[in-house]
Amino acid sequence: MDKEHLLINKLKKYGAADTCPMHMPGHKRQTGEAFLGAFPNPFSIDITEIDGFDNLHNAEGILKDSMEWAAGVYGADKTWYLVNGSSSGILSAICGTVKPGERILMSRNCHKSAYHGVILSHAEVDYVYPQTLEGLGIQGGILASDVEKKLKKQPDTKAVLIVSPTYDGAVSDVAAIAEVVHGYGIPLIVDEAHGAHFPFGKGLFPKSALDCGADLVIQSLHKTLPSLTQTAVMHGRSGQVDFVRIERFLQMFQSSSPSYVFMASMEQCIWEMAQNGAGQMQAFNWRLQNLRGKLKGLKRLRLLEPEIMEREKNAGVFDLDLSKIVASCRGCGISGEMLGDWLRDRYHIEMEMCGADYVVAITTYLDREEDLQRLGTALLELDGELAELDAPDWEKPDLPRPQICRNLSDAVECQLKERDLADCAGEISGEFIYLYPPGIPIVAPGELVTEEIIRLVEAYKEMKLPVQGMADRAAKRLKVLA
Ligand SMILES: Cc1ncc(COP(=O)(O)O)c(C=O)c1O
Repeated sequence: MDKEHLLINKLKKYGAADTCPMHMPGHKRQTGEAFLGAFPNPFSIDITEIDGFDNLHNAEGILKDSMEWAAGVYGADKTWYLVNGSSSGILSAICGTVKPGERILMSRNCHKSAYHGVILSHAEVDYVYPQTLEGLGIQGGILASDVEKKLKKQPDTKAVLIVSPTYDGAVSDVAAIAEVVHGYGIPLIVDEAHGAHFPFGKGLFPKSALDCGADLVIQSLHKTLPSLTQTAVMHGRSGQVDFVRIERFLQMFQSSSPSYVFMASMEQCIWEMAQNGAGQMQAFNWRLQNLRGKLKGLKRLRLLEPEIMEREKNAGVFDLDLSKIVASCRGCGISGEMLGDWLRDRYHIEMEMCGADYVVAITTYLDREEDLQRLGTALLELDGELAELDAPDWEKPDLPRPQICRNLSDAVECQLKERDLADCAGEISGEFIYLYPPGIPIVAPGELVTEEIIRLVEAYKEMKLPVQGMADRAAKRLKVLA
């Protein structure tokens, strides 16, 4: 490899380009800002567990004090620093609450790490499906009544895990769900990976799941706050959860050499938010209102707006995170992927996610006013061009609800055979198929493949969406149970 192709040189080149990052990490590489400017060269503070610096896996000194202080900031009984992202918190939360053969109820729109947690815990899983925002092609929230129905049917369930907010910012009624779940004497785990900013924007952003009664809440600091990629926290409320068990799994799922750079980044981030977060979030909210005001001029593209909660009362959207700018192009004759390409090629704006029907921008308080306005102008200009386009819309089947034929953790250990995807109807999948991002399975191992699923995957491939999970990178061949 020549020097020019070294990753570090590619990163430097990208960092110097004028690309506008409407994606994670939340710090947006704003190294000049007062807060991030205080962070030294990472090599100069990268140490191991030397005397006086404690040990994350057996914290009894400065790291214990730091995590206790953080718990106080959040109002949690316990806060754990996670150096392997929310993924490690989700794995530990599942394995720490559900034993092999026991049952967990999970929202189907969970991230792939939740499915990995089920495989590792050898649990039985059942799903509660999110509602759909008709006309936008976007998933809504989870209904407490749906959770209740499932628990009534399977009262031996040991834990419930939901994702709220979704990748697109839809927040479920966590308080109502917690009440139902606690009625069965079991814990509610909330994957709040995309809502780490909620606790610091009280009254402006949705209420954090921790304040709504959830027992374990996992937040990726790196997604929406100024902290390094991979940094996350898990908060626990005592009562329903055995913290000792959780810690046992945290030790298994996290590196035995947790990065002090990451831990310092987390502590610094929480410190900054505790000191100045309320003011920063207020100013950020004002910038968002400006942007959303400007986007009221959209004619074809449709923005996910708070009015949707009134308009689609059954969609389970209890609240909306306004920092996610979600523009739906359903009915405009283009896919989200095409819209994302136009934004990148013509405006040098890189979105977080481009799906079949919409694009998502992750904005944070570190986004500059000029960058938010740049996004607004680009969307308005492209919208004007769409008004002149008269292309037919793509045919997009709805998300299927595959039948579970084999336990997930058994299915991944079964003998498999490979088939052309087109010939797989009636077979039991041995692999996941999902779009990444967001990593929500279209089908999981042990589930029945149907014509409907095959059609959906083919449609996604045609739209050049990132179909992943299958060993065959071209997504033409699927491994099914032999
Ligand atoms: C909903 C959701 N949960 C969990 C995760 C995993 O988070 P992390 O990347 O911090 O491990 C993601 C990642 O994108 C996600 O979208």
